[in-house]
Amino acid sequence: MNQYDLKDKVAIITGARRGIGEGIALMFAANGAKVVVTDIDEKDCQRVVDKIAKEGGKGLALELDVTNEKNIQKVVKRVVSEYGRIDILVNNAGIFIQEELDKMEVSTIDKMLNVNLRGVLLCTKYVIPEMKQQNYGKIINIASIAGFVSFDLSGVYCATKGAIVNLTRELAMELSKYRINVNAVAPGVIETPMTENLRSDKGIADVLLSKIPYGRYGIPKDIANAAAFLVSDDSDYITGQTVVVDGGWTIY
Ligand SMILES: NC(=O)c1ccc[n+]([C@@H]2O[C@H](COP(=O)([O-])OP(=O)(O)OC[C@H]3O[C@@H](n4cnc5c(N)ncnc54)[C@H](O)[C@@H]3O)[C@@H](O)[C@H]2O)c1
Repeated sequence: MNQYDLKDKVAIITGARRGIGEGIALMFAANGAKVVVTDIDEKDCQRVVDKIAKEGGKGLALELDVTNEKNIQKVVKRVVSEYGRIDILVNNAGIFIQEELDKMEVSTIDKMLNVNLRGVLLCTKYVIPEMKQQNYGKIINIASIAGFVSFDLSGVYCATKGAIVNLTRELAMELSKYRINVNAVAPGVIETPMTENLRSDKGIADVLLSKIPYGRYGIPKDIANAAAFLVSDDSDYITGQTVVVDGGWTIY
């Protein structure tokens, strides 16, 4: 699996105890990175780190709630003291709640904004100073095709993912002079716990699959491949872009 040279790059991945984040963690580690696997539950992160170690890779499990500013600062400090630098940040943590906007509790709206958007802003804010100092960094934001097209009963989610696409452009502009690349990956429907309810409902599954020219859902590895390329030095001249990985959903 060693396609990209990530040897000894230090990568923090948020929301990485399962799903797409776990897929990215395993892929980066297989390509030589030292991976800091973070999520709200440290025990689950350790499970991913154990998998990494079993395959000969290097990893560190840390609890990180992206809505908690102090927690973010603590993790950044810890990683710098452990490894001396931060080369890569993957803002992957996200939540997806479907409901008509007029029926949605304000607390639910706030929660989605906090994790999917404010969390990305804060994690990035506290990692940037390290990357500026190094004059090197790769930031990947996990957006969604919901940032480009509508998705059923998902106004708030779509708003957060659209914001991520545009944040990626702006930050790339702001940080290019420090040789910090900022790109996003926009997945289609991927086989993870997030989409389990949708995929296990035959009626919904038929509609979803009918929208995917490639004829199957994505898997975490599909997203991890794009992310690994975007954090490797092979893609240095790509910044501010969102790579859509959706089996063709958005080409209609
Ligand atoms: N699965 C898909 O079809 C799909 C499609 C497009 C975009 N995405 C995006 O990909 C990312 C990963 O999603 P996934 O499918 O792996 O979902 P998932 O639910 O399997 O994983 C999301 C992870 O984020 C973590 N998380 C939630 N709140 C957090 C917080 N406050 N702090 C830290 N971590 C937190 C969860 O614990 C979980 O491990 C999300 O940003 C999601 O919006 C997923």
